[in-house]
Order: sequence, then structure tokens, then C-alpha cells
Amino acid sequence: MRISYLECTRCGEHFPADRPQSVCPKDGGVLFVRYNLASLKGKLLPESLSGRIASMWRYAEVLPDLPGNEKPVTLGEGFTPMLPSREYANVYIKDEALNPTGSFKARGMSAAVTMAKHYGLRKLAAPSAGNAGGALAAYAAAAGIEAHIFMPKDVPIANRMECDYYGAHLVLVDGLISDCGRMVAERKDKEKWFDVSTLKEPFRVEGKKTMGYEVAEQLAWKLPQGIIYPTGGGVGMIGMWKAFDEMEELGWIGSERPKMITVQAAGCAPIVKAWEAGNSSSETWAGAQTFASGLRVPKAYGDYLILEILKKSQGTAVAATDEEILAAMRHWARVEGVFAAPEGAASLVAYQKLRTAGWLLPDDRVVLFNTGTAYKYLDVIEAQQAKARPEPVGARNIGGIISPF
Ligand SMILES: Cc1ncc(COP(=O)(O)O)c(C=O)c1O
Ligand SMILES: [Zn+2]
Repeated sequence: MRISYLECTRCGEHFPADRPQSVCPKDGGVLFVRYNLASLKGKLLPESLSGRIASMWRYAEVLPDLPGNEKPVTLGEGFTPMLPSREYANVYIKDEALNPTGSFKARGMSAAVTMAKHYGLRKLAAPSAGNAGGALAAYAAAAGIEAHIFMPKDVPIANRMECDYYGAHLVLVDGLISDCGRMVAERKDKEKWFDVSTLKEPFRVEGKKTMGYEVAEQLAWKLPQGIIYPTGGGVGMIGMWKAFDEMEELGWIGSERPKMITVQAAGCAPIVKAWEAGNSSSETWAGAQTFASGLRVPKAYGDYLILEILKKSQGTAVAATDEEILAAMRHWARVEGVFAAPEGAASLVAYQKLRTAGWLLPDDRVVLFNTGTAYKYLDVIEAQQAKARPEPVGARNIGGIISPF
């Protein structure tokens, strides 16, 4: 196997990857997959990638390998467009909306379900803010594995419906993702579920890290000055940072790093609060509320990793209100032709704020992550619009037609 071992991000202890692993049994630390990169140095070159499959599996050597004729569980995830902004010079939109199931969650689930299948696991479970559940349901269906998904009951209809169609077992919970996580934890042993919660198994990070490889490859191996990433559990940020270290070890890039910028919804901003207070971990956010459902994560399991990355990269953390996010969605749609998920549009809010503050300069090359498609949020967007611009009772304006009901 190419994987040398799994390493605890808290105590550094090593664990074998020949069986399913969760978190460090000693301290609950997130486990990272470590490869023998030294053996690839000088042999695997950026040029080696040309002509390879246009999916995240183009980076096969730095992803888990499979014995014999086992194949990854793939639906064509990754290698998404890097769109130069039409509004701002030096800004790029990394459009993750084009992934299977309409969000970047596909990457993590492709890797996690591939390994679950390899280990012979039959039942997977996860709490989800919405899109991770949809992605798990799709990849589990493709792998012929059972999926048990717990979501807040007010997630967008698309998230509920996709789970149903993909044949997953769905539990809608009157609560937040943290309540869903507790329910998975309570039932998993009895039900013999393997828990693929964010950062509680090592492979979702591996899938998400491919965004870091793509940023480098699509910008001709010169990392940008900034990356703005809508942060819930923070897996993408943690994964990209890991990818940069791996690429440096492979000799593909130098020691330069982008400033990593977290954007969260003002109604649920535990990382922003911890960052502003100079803390190395976050507190559970009480009364989390935002229509950017993927950002409704009151406490990220890997908060210590996210905050460390913000610090090491000299990045920052910014909050965006729901009103600002909605306005940014409309702006991006009109100006860029990108109909972004609310979480993605939050990246634009952060960029605008940091430019206004002079923290980012016009010359800075910055990648804004649009993590998903707005098409999965039509019901919550409509509800948010109604909140922002209340309409007369009993009438609703649909594209210029007044329909009474
Ligand atoms: C569209 C979208 N963006 C961002 C996030 C946050 O992702 P992460 O948990 O990797 O920080 C989510 C999580 O559900 C999401 O669905
Ligand atoms: Zn540990």
C-alpha cells in the first residue's frame, strides 16, 4: 500500500491503515493519512499529470491505492473549473457546483466510500448539514453500501429528496448537525454503523485535499496569495493545507502559502469568534441560524486545525450576514453567470469586505471557493428572499405574474 501510516494530528501517534480507523483513541485527535512521498519525489512530476482523467483521481499517487482490480467509487468528482472573475482582475472562482450531487462534498465521500468498500464495511452513517448527506447517499448507492443519514429537518428539500432517491435511510432531526452527530454516536455500535462524520475517519480529508492540488495545477503551480473558503467543519481548508505540504515534499511547489481565509455566516460564526479572541479552539455557538445551511455548524471537530492554519498562513476569518450573502448571490449570478450556493456566495462577501478594508489588494491573486450550486437551495433561497422583502399577504410575485393563493 502507498499509505505508510495514519498519524494523529494531536499527539503524533501512528496507526495502521489496514483496517478502518476513526480518531485517535488517546486524545480524539483527527488522523491524517501519510504516504511515502519521498519515494515519489523526482519520479512523480507535475508533467506526469497531463492527459490524465479529469477528476480528482488524476492525483492517484497521493490518494489511497487499492489492491488487485479494486476500483475507486467515482462519479466523476473533482477537476472543477477555475473561472477567472469577470469583475475583479486576479480573482478566480473555483466552481465546485459542478461536482456530482452539486457540491464539493462529493470529493470527500468518493474517497471515504472507496475506502469503506475496500475495508468491506456494509453500513455507513453520518450527520450532515445537507450536502454531505446527499453525497454520502450517492456514493453509497454507487458502492452498494447502506447509508444512514441524520439531517436537521429544515435542510433544503433537495437534500432530503436526493437521500430518498439514492436509497439512503434518512432521519430528519428537530435540531442542528451537532444533535444529529450525537444521535449517530449513540446508535452506531448497536446498529454496526461505521461513522463517516466530518473528520472522524481519515479519508474525507484525502478527497477534499484534491482541491489544493487543483488550485496549484490550474494556476500553473503558483499558489495564489489568498484562498477564501466557506467554513463549516473546515475539511476543505484542512485538506488543502495538507495538500500544500505534500506538494512541497514532492518538490512541486516551494514554501510559499496562500493566506487562508475562513468565511462563516454571522448567525453561526464560532471560528470567527475564536480567531478574533486569539483562541486555539472554539466554543459551541448557541442558537445557530443561517440559510447557508452548510455553515450551520456550531462546533467544528477540527477547530484546532482550522485555527492553526489561519495563524500559520497569516490568514483571517470573516463573517457574512444572510442579507449580505443573498445580495452576493444575486451579484455573482448577474456579473459572473455563477448561481452559487449561499455558502459559496459568502466567499464573495468576504472578498469585498477584505478589499474594502485594504487587507486584500487589487494585485493579490485570490481564489474564492463556490462550494456548491444554488439549484439545491431554491426553497430556502425563496424563503430568505421573502424575509428580506416581505410580499403582500395572499399574493406572490412569480416572474411578473401575480397568482393569488
Ligand atoms: C455548500 C457547502 N459549503 C460549505 C460547507 C462547509 O464545509 P466544511 O464542513 O468542509 O467546512 C458545506 C457543508 O455542508 C456545504 O454544504
Ligand atoms: Zn493522539
